[in-house]
Amino acid sequence: MIRFDSDYLEGAHPKVLKQIVETNYEQTEGYGRDDYTKKAVDKIRKVLKNEDVDVHFLVGGTQTNMIVVNSALRSYEAVICPTSGHINVHEAGAIESCGNKILTCTSMDGKLYLEDLKALIKQYESEDVPEHRVKPKMICISLPTECGTNYTKKELVDLYNYCKKKKLYLYIDGARLGYGLVAKDTDLKIEDIPNLCDVFYIGGTKQGTLFGEAVVIINKELKKDFRYYMKQKGGLLAKGRLLSIQFLALLDKDLYFKISKVAVSNAMKIRKALLNKGYDLYYDSYTNQQFVIMDNNKLKELEKEFTFFKWLTIDNKTVIRICTSWATTEEQVDKLIEEL
Ligand SMILES: Cc1ncc(COP(=O)(O)O)c(C=O)c1O
Repeated sequence: MIRFDSDYLEGAHPKVLKQIVETNYEQTEGYGRDDYTKKAVDKIRKVLKNEDVDVHFLVGGTQTNMIVVNSALRSYEAVICPTSGHINVHEAGAIESCGNKILTCTSMDGKLYLEDLKALIKQYESEDVPEHRVKPKMICISLPTECGTNYTKKELVDLYNYCKKKKLYLYIDGARLGYGLVAKDTDLKIEDIPNLCDVFYIGGTKQGTLFGEAVVIINKELKKDFRYYMKQKGGLLAKGRLLSIQFLALLDKDLYFKISKVAVSNAMKIRKALLNKGYDLYYDSYTNQQFVIMDNNKLKELEKEFTFFKWLTIDNKTVIRICTSWATTEEQVDKLIEEL
């Protein structure tokens, strides 16, 4: 069986594993106070061309989103995201379990559009007694989105300028940041990101590490006591170096971007084949996730050899997600194209 349902189905890039094995018997300080973590923080600052950011390592995306959002908001404050936002649909109410409400803007392609955000804020501001509502305080967008779509630099600049004007924090969920940044439909570079949000994370779990996400905090207000929140929510690992060592390997000699390009070029090959063969795409994605409307009979046939994520059902058709990853091979892609 060849699996295309997600991008976390393999272990880790061999260079990441090698670094873990080579340092296995070393004794270091715990809880991210070791020299590898310091080096990884420096490396991330260098990659971002920004020496002022704080960097912390966490284990997974849901945990990261929960800690970032909860540490930034008071109990009456809310985070806004598009309806399809991971925090809204796929995190079992993690944010809400910490006491913060999620407000949503309807989105057909996974993106948060400025006009929709403005309408939501306008509605809040028009309340006679605003204290009766939760107070919008943070925006959470995913880059790239859960639908494989991307933001341009201008879109992000406009969103961030509005957030600053309205005193809203902008948080970017970068679970697949590398796959987004190497795609042809964005002009964003990784060093732009710290200038266009208050906090974001560089995803590792889907991008070549065994597990791990690197949280980058730009806004001073959000830096304070972050490690206490990490500890309180079970995110401050005693063996913290296992996270930072993986990022050291991943960011060495641009490995992060090189392997992101492999995933995206394989996804583009699949996209081209789908279009050539007359399939309809559900979202216009240039990243590693492709969404295709598939006749159920054809899907049944394909499922003898492949697995996909079933996104939604339309009559006798299913929208499936085909995901490539840093580890996808050309042979796997060619086999799928042949069967399509
Ligand atoms: C946009 C986004 N954020 C966060 C996550 C992290 O989820 P998990 O905690 O299951 O690793 C995912 C996983 O699919 C995701 O797609």
